[in-house]
Order: sequence, then C-alpha cells, then structure tokens
Amino acid sequence: MNKKIIKILKKKNVSKIVCLTAYSKNIAEILDKYCDIVLVGDSVANVLYAFKNTHKISLENIIQHTLSVKKGIKKSLLVVDMPKGTYNNKKIAKKNAKIILGKTKCDAIKIESNHKNFDIICELVRAKIPVMGHIGYTPQFKKKFKVEGGTKHQANKLLKEARLIEEAGAFSIVLECITPHASKLISEGIKIPTIGIGSSAYCDGQILVTDDMLGISGFYPKFVKKYAKLNRTIEKAVKKYTRDVKLSKFPSKINFLNGK
Ligand code: KIV
Repeated sequence: MNKKIIKILKKKNVSKIVCLTAYSKNIAEILDKYCDIVLVGDSVANVLYAFKNTHKISLENIIQHTLSVKKGIKKSLLVVDMPKGTYNNKKIAKKNAKIILGKTKCDAIKIESNHKNFDIICELVRAKIPVMGHIGYTPQFKKKFKVEGGTKHQANKLLKEARLIEEAGAFSIVLECITPHASKLISEGIKIPTIGIGSSAYCDGQILVTDDMLGISGFYPKFVKKYAKLNRTIEKAVKKYTRDVKLSKFPSKINFLNGK
C-alpha cells in the first residue's frame, strides 16, 4: 500500500487529518507544507469556472488542474475527484481512474456514493487504485444542499453506507453536511478515517474548499470559517495599482529591467 495512505490510516484516533482543496501549483505548494491530503476537487467547476454545479467538469479538465497541482506537491497525499459521468459502471470507472492516475501520478481518486456504486469501489481497489468515498451531501447526485443524518433512521442508513464503502476497500470517506450525532456514529463505527466538511469535529479529519476559507470564492455556507478575507486584500492591491498607473507612478525607475 502507498506509504502516504498508511500514514493517514495510522492517524485515526491519534491525530487529526488536515485536508484542503487545490486547483493549481502555487496554492498546492503552500498547502503541501501543512496538509496530509490535498484534493483536486470537482468544486473547481463552481469556484473557478463559475458553473452552477459540479457536473460540467470534464476528465481532461480535472487532469489539467491535477498536473498543475502535482508540481506543488512533495509530501501530501494527492487525491483527485472523478468527475460526474466518468464512473457510471465498473468498466468505465476503471478505465478513467487509470487515465487519471497514469497521466497525473496522483495517489488516489475520490468518488461520490449514490448508495449503490460500492461494486465500483471494489473493482477499483482490486485494480490497485486507492479510493476515497464521499457520503452525505454529494453534489454530483443530489440537487438540494441539505444536512443529513438528523433522524435515527437517517443516521443508521449513513452508517450502513459508510460500512459498505469501507468493506468495498476505500481508505477513507468524506462526510459532507452530516449532523454531529451521525458523524460521531460513523467515525466511531468504521475503522477507516472520516474527513468532515460541515460535519462536526467528531470526524477524524477536516476538509474545506481553500478558496472558501480564504474568502475569495464568494460562496460561504455556514460551516465555512473564513481564515482570511483575501478578496479585500486583492481589491486593495488592484486599487493601488490602478492609482499608480493613472498617476504614472508605476512603473518607476526601479521597475525597468536595466534600472535606467
Ligand atoms: O470537490 C470538492 O471540493 C469536494 C469537497 C468535499 C471538499 O469534494
């Protein structure tokens, strides 16, 4: 098994797993110093391409972003989201996962659960492709953004789903927008690490969309903590540049290549 994955598995019940998303080298390089996992998420569709949902991102697109991210990664586990429609059955999933791994040399892929694609995870794992699962709010399959696991029945259903994903051979599972009670039940009920997004501190690790936590995506669900307001920082810089250009303060002498 991949050494980085073994390291992540060992963190369960020992120390929290730190994960963030990246779509390009410059951000990946910074994240790599701190994160256990860097995910090239299909959220790139909303965040960078301003699509209404994640559905339109193509295999080629995610591969291009991963090639860029890979250049900034030295130590973190690099996981790539399989875009919607690229893992509709075992054969297609295996073919496309192999293309992603082969072209990008990433470490693993992530697929969203639709409550029945456990056989696809099995097939990928059998082909030695490490898989991260994803349950709760799964944007590729669910139209409405809502918290899941609120009733005892729902919580048990999610636990069952997580167990089937674990049995299929996934090395971890993202829990998106799942109640604290249900995420505790799941995290304590399976042996592989859970990575939460909007799913409480009971999870074994946390992930956020980097652009959200930096304050530059324009989309801030309640579960996002803004660790910076980069939109303001960028605007200030652009305003200053505009003023300098208009007043002929930029470029100044020191900005000329030969200094003259
Ligand atoms: O695409 C994405 O960014 C995700 C989130 C869970 C982080 O899948």
